[in-house]
Amino acid sequence: MIRHVLVTNDFLPKVGGIQAYLGEIYSRLDPQSFLVITTRVPGCEEFDRDFPAPIVRLGKRLLPTPATVRELAGPIAEFSPDLLVYDPIVPIGVTRDAFKIPYALIAHGAEVRVPAYLPGLRAQLRRTIQGSRGVIAAGGYPAEEVRKLVPEARIVVVPPGIDPERFCEVDESRRASLRRTWMQDPERTLVLFVSRLVPRKGADTLLRAMVGIESIQGLEVHVVGDGRDRRRLDRLAMAVSSPVVFHGRLDEEAKIELYQAADVFVFPARDRWLGVEQEGFGIVILEAQACGTPAIIGVSGGTPEALVPSSGQLLRRGDPAELAAVLRTMVDSARLGSGRRATSAYVREHFDYDQLSKAYGSALRALVNG
Ligand code: GDD
Repeated sequence: MIRHVLVTNDFLPKVGGIQAYLGEIYSRLDPQSFLVITTRVPGCEEFDRDFPAPIVRLGKRLLPTPATVRELAGPIAEFSPDLLVYDPIVPIGVTRDAFKIPYALIAHGAEVRVPAYLPGLRAQLRRTIQGSRGVIAAGGYPAEEVRKLVPEARIVVVPPGIDPERFCEVDESRRASLRRTWMQDPERTLVLFVSRLVPRKGADTLLRAMVGIESIQGLEVHVVGDGRDRRRLDRLAMAVSSPVVFHGRLDEEAKIELYQAADVFVFPARDRWLGVEQEGFGIVILEAQACGTPAIIGVSGGTPEALVPSSGQLLRRGDPAELAAVLRTMVDSARLGSGRRATSAYVREHFDYDQLSKAYGSALRALVNG
C-alpha cells in the first residue's frame, strides 16, 4: 500500500469544484493510506469527525513560508509517507524541496493557466512540475496546459465525475412530482442553470438569449447558485418576459431535484481576459446530464469533454443569438424528454467516481513506482 499525504488549500467542507473533486476521490480511497493536511474553515470540526481518514488543519491559507514548512513538517514526519501530493501546484507546491520526499501534483486548469502568464510564477510552476513524479490532471484541458509548460511531464488524466447514487435520473411520476414542487407551472419547459454566479459561467448570456426568444411561450428559467454577479443578473432578468426564478444557494438535495426536474440545462461558459481565464471542466454539465437532462454549453477550456455527444449541443460562437436559436431548435424538436436514460447512462459509464477514485489510486501507485 502506498502511503501519501495530500497537502491542499482546497478541501471540504469549503464549497467549490476542486473541493468537491478531492472530497469524492478521497472519500473512496483506503482511509489507512493517506493523511490530508489542509486549512481551517467553518464547520470543519464536524466534517472531520465524520471523515474516515485523518485530517490536520493548519491556519486559514497554506502559503510557502518557512512558518508553514515548520507546521507541515511534524504531521508529515509522523505519517512517514511514500509520496506527497500538492493541490494546487502553486503556491503550496513550492514547499516541495523542504521535505526530501517524492511528490506529485494535481492540476485543475486555472491555477496552471493563469500563473503561466506571469514570468516569475511561470518559472516556479515549471520547476515544480519538472521536479515531481508526475501530475494528475482533472481533465484533458489541464493536462494540455501542463504539457504546454513542461512537454516531458508525466501526466495521468483523472477527470471530475459524479456520484451515481445521488446524481441519477428518476421515473416519470417522481419527475412530475418534482416539477410540481419547483415550477410555477409544470407544463412549461424548465431551463436550468447551476453554478457560482461569476461572469465566466455565462448566466448573463442565458438571460440575454431569453430576451431574444420572447416568441417561445412556456419557458421557465431557474438559476441556482450565488456569487458576485447576482445583482447584475437580477437587472438582466427584468427584461425577460418568461418567469426567471433565482434560488440563490440551495442545499445538495434541492439542487439535484432541480437537475432531475429540468428539461434542458444551459451553461454558456466563455473565455475571459483574452483566453487567460477559462472553465476548467464544467462539473455542473456532468451533474445535469447524470440526472438525464440534456445540456447546451459554451466552449471554454475543458467544457466540451463534459458533454454527452448524443443529446447535448455545443455553442460555436456562444453569443445570446446563437443560444436563443439552439434553445428554440431543442424545444421545438421534441428531443427534450426522449433520451434521458441514455444521457444518464453515458455519464455513469465514463464519469463514475467509484471508477475514477480507483484510477486515481492506481495513478499514485504508478507515480511512486516510477
Ligand atoms: N448545493 C449547491 N448549491 N451546489 C452548488 C451551488 C449551489 O448553489 N452552486 C454551485 N454548486 C456546486 C456545483 O453543483 C458543483 O458541484 C460545484 O459547486 C462546482 O461548481 P462551479 O461553481 O460550476 O465550479 P467551480 O468554478 O467552483 O469549479 C472548478 O473546478 C471544477 C472541478 O475540477 C471549475 O474549474 C469547474 O469547471 C471544474 O469542473
